[in-house]
Amino acid sequence: MPEAPARLTEIRGEGEAAIEAAGSAAELEELRVRYLGRKAELTQMLRSIGELPPQQRGPVGKGANEVKRALEGLLDSRTSALAASELDERLRTDAIDVTLPGDPPAAPGHLHLITETRREIEDVFLGLGFSVAEGPEVEFDYYNFTALNHPPDHPARMLADTFYFTDEVLLRTHTSPMQVRAMEETEPPIYIIVPGKVYRRDSDATHTPMFHQVEGLAVDDDITLGDLQGVLLEFARAIFGAERDIRLRPHYFPFTEPSVEVDVSCFACNGTGTLDRGARCNLCKGSGWIEILGSGMVDPNVLGFVAHNGYDPERVQGFAFGMGIERIAMLRHGVPDLRLFFENDVRFLEQFGR
Ligand code: DAH
Repeated sequence: MPEAPARLTEIRGEGEAAIEAAGSAAELEELRVRYLGRKAELTQMLRSIGELPPQQRGPVGKGANEVKRALEGLLDSRTSALAASELDERLRTDAIDVTLPGDPPAAPGHLHLITETRREIEDVFLGLGFSVAEGPEVEFDYYNFTALNHPPDHPARMLADTFYFTDEVLLRTHTSPMQVRAMEETEPPIYIIVPGKVYRRDSDATHTPMFHQVEGLAVDDDITLGDLQGVLLEFARAIFGAERDIRLRPHYFPFTEPSVEVDVSCFACNGTGTLDRGARCNLCKGSGWIEILGSGMVDPNVLGFVAHNGYDPERVQGFAFGMGIERIAMLRHGVPDLRLFFENDVRFLEQFGR
């Protein structure tokens, strides 16, 4: 057996060569066991130092530890170098081109029919000079009812119809509260529409607890019912077809006076109430007219709540209207059940994408 220090030099040389030559993590692990494991020659030498003559212990111990550290260092750096190059290799071969079409190619998504309808309605009124405003869904009783001229015992104020948080705070039941909020913010003249979600305690084929409305408000110093009629005729023709007509029927709303309901001439039977072979038109139930929204001249009592901001009922007047977006979409697309909009069944939703 060679002198210990000479043997150490040999072990080091052999070990370094083997580690440099290793091509895989598994080989490096084997070498780690062979050169540094419990049964490795180096380990044995370190363990039996006590048996050497005292003057050899120091140099042999120092030399053996040096070799151990050198081989450990080399093993560690080779192991991480190998891991890095394996990762590079995997990144190169496993690369996925995310810009390729899927397999099978996925159709691009599209807007929900309600969103699309809302945007179309907005476009019509933007074209007529209105701007779009939005307001809170959690609303004060004051804006939702009181400032809209609802008497204290109005049925809509009942717990059975409205979601309340407290006596004073509720989920708005219509977009009309934004009439008063907008008039508090902006002096006359004002021409706005207000799209948004509204909430009522109601659920069946034509009612869901949440639905969407678009409110309209125009206040200026010379607004008449004729302006209302002209604006809504324009709207009806843009949405339901250029041949449409509208009619105003007397109605009641607390916050308009006079109030009207607005009908559009039926687009299934062209307003005749009768289909080609003489059958009664189902869409308009033979009447030739379909109700599309509520409207009227802003009640002076409502203006009274914002008179401090220039809405003196003696000086300005205006019209207002409110429509359900779902209702408009259902009519145009023949959707039979309101709940279909919110069940999120793609077989329904997919039919309306553009
Ligand atoms: N807010 C009413 C509702 O939810 C709709 C409505 C009617 C709005 C007449 C108006 C209006 O602005 O003038 O049923």
